[in-house]
Amino acid sequence: MSQTASQAEGRIPVVAIYPGSFDPITNGHLDLICRASKLVERLIVAVLGNSAKHPLFTVAERKEMLCEVTTGFSNVEIDSFDGLLVDYAARRNANIIVRGIRAISDYEYELQMTLMNRRLRPQIDTIFLMAGEAYSFISSKMVKEVFSLNGSVSGLVPKPVEARLRQKIHDRKEPNAN
Ligand code: PNS
Repeated sequence: MSQTASQAEGRIPVVAIYPGSFDPITNGHLDLICRASKLVERLIVAVLGNSAKHPLFTVAERKEMLCEVTTGFSNVEIDSFDGLLVDYAARRNANIIVRGIRAISDYEYELQMTLMNRRLRPQIDTIFLMAGEAYSFISSKMVKEVFSLNGSVSGLVPKPVEARLRQKIHDRKEPNAN
C-alpha cells in the first residue's frame, strides 16, 4: 500500500472531523469541505444526530445529500454521530476538528465550543477555515426561510439540495398527497 505524504515524513496523518447540523448542506459548507479535504489525509463530515433543534431534514436525508455532493472527493467520508463530538472524534481516531467561521458574530460561539472541547479532550484541536467571500453570508437557516417564502436559493445550495428542498416543502404543504 502506498504511503501518504505525512506517513513518508514520519508525521501522524491528519484525520479531521467536520461536524455540523448540515440542515441542509449549503455551498458555504461545500466550499469548506473542498478546502479542508486538500489539507488533511481524511475528512469525516459528521452530521449531529441528537440535536435540540428541530431539523427540516432527517439525519438520513442530510447524509444522502452530503454523499451526493461530495462524490468527487476521494478522501471525504460522510457519517453521523450522537453524544459528545470529542468522544466521537476519539472513536474515529481523529486528531482535528474543522469548523468554518463566516463573520465575527460566529466567533463567540466557536470560541466557547473550542475551549469546551479542548477541556474535555486536550489532545484534539480545532482549526478554523473561512469559506470564499461569496458564501460568507449563507446559513442553512436563512436558506430554509428564503426558500419557504418562495425566494430563490439558486447558487446558495448545490442543485440536488434545491430539488430536495422543493420536495420537502411540497410534502409539508400536502402531507397526504402521494
Ligand atoms: O452546524 P452547527 O449546528 O453549528 O454544529 C454544531 C455542532 C454539531 C458542532 C455542535 O452542536 C456539537 O458538537 N454538538 C455535539 C455535542 C457536544 O459535543 N457538545 C459539547 C461541545 S459544545
